Amino acid sequence: MAPLGNQSAKLAPVAIVGAGSIGTGWAIVFATAGRPVRLHDTLSERLVAAHAEIDARLADLQSFGLVHEPPATILARIDFTTDLARSVAGAGHVQECAPEQLELKRAVFATLDAASPADCPIASSSSFMTASALAGELPGRQRCLVVHPGNPPYLLRVAEVVPAPFTSPAVVARTEHLLRDAGIETVRVRHEMEGFVFNRLQGAILREAYALVQDGVASVADIDRLVRDGLGLRWSVVGPFETVDLNTRGGIAVHAQRMGPAYARMGAERGRQEPWSAELVAEVVAARREQLDLEHWAERVAWRDRMLMARLQARANVEPGK
Ligand SMILES: NC(=O)c1ccc[n+]([C@@H]2O[C@H](COP(=O)([O-])OP(=O)(O)OC[C@H]3O[C@@H](n4cnc5c(N)ncnc54)[C@H](O)[C@@H]3O)[C@@H](O)[C@H]2O)c1
Repeated sequence: MAPLGNQSAKLAPVAIVGAGSIGTGWAIVFATAGRPVRLHDTLSERLVAAHAEIDARLADLQSFGLVHEPPATILARIDFTTDLARSVAGAGHVQECAPEQLELKRAVFATLDAASPADCPIASSSSFMTASALAGELPGRQRCLVVHPGNPPYLLRVAEVVPAPFTSPAVVARTEHLLRDAGIETVRVRHEMEGFVFNRLQGAILREAYALVQDGVASVADIDRLVRDGLGLRWSVVGPFETVDLNTRGGIAVHAQRMGPAYARMGAERGRQEPWSAELVAEVVAARREQLDLEHWAERVAWRDRMLMARLQARANVEPGK
């Protein structure tokens, strides 16, 4: 989270519409990066609560050495307002964070398109809805897109950028630049699909977790424990493709050959007929081999292990006894 010092005076404000979990999170991201922020909500009591929440989060971030300015300096960059017109006046970016309800968000987008500066990108934080669904009918639809963060955005520092077919490439580029400038990595989703990538992956594991509880195979607490201390800990170092690439001598090609049939049977048991075809496996293998030559496989395994050791060390320091 590199601070930008006194640059905030020169930067156009970021308007955040909706001051719940995600709106307050984005406010921390942009204010910490030196941007002036206007945080809007229709409820004044929510803004009072948001102020206190941001204050507390900034103090926590400071205690972990994750912000480099006094919390009061960062907090002073955020203007809390119930006045929508004031929040978007002169804005350089609008981030919509209203509740996940189609009609409500469509109305908010129509208002934002009418009220914000004509060249200002308008991004939705929506978890599932596309810009086509939210803004497809608007005169300013070419400046609308989805920027879906993880929760909380100031800790999960990667966001999905999901343009609609009508979103202008310049708006996409400008938005990605703004995010990277604020220390948020971006992943471009190549075409619109409900739930994008993040929540489709999360959905796959949640579907199976619910099914396992229904089948009486494991308790809710035990499933959470297996993910927290097992799969999830490893995923904090490497993603699912790299995980199996590093778990199998010979890499992911050998994994798919040996384990693919079992995964296909487990999928079929849940009503999904999606065996990994030879062409699909070849595409994934080629992508992995571009990332890691098998000659360096053992080196990368040792690196993964060291990264896991660092995480265990951090856990032991922060959560003694875990
Ligand atoms: N919570 C998550 O884990 C998460 C993660 C990523 C994305 N999202 C998405 O972010 C969006 C916001 O989610 P959240 O969890 O922060 O919800 P939330 O319920 O915590 O906050 C929503 C806020 O919007 C305000 N609001 C309602 N109508 C409004 C309007 N017309 N104008 C301005 N503000 C209005 C509410 O008062 C409330 O404070 C949703 O689209 C959600 O799917 C949520």
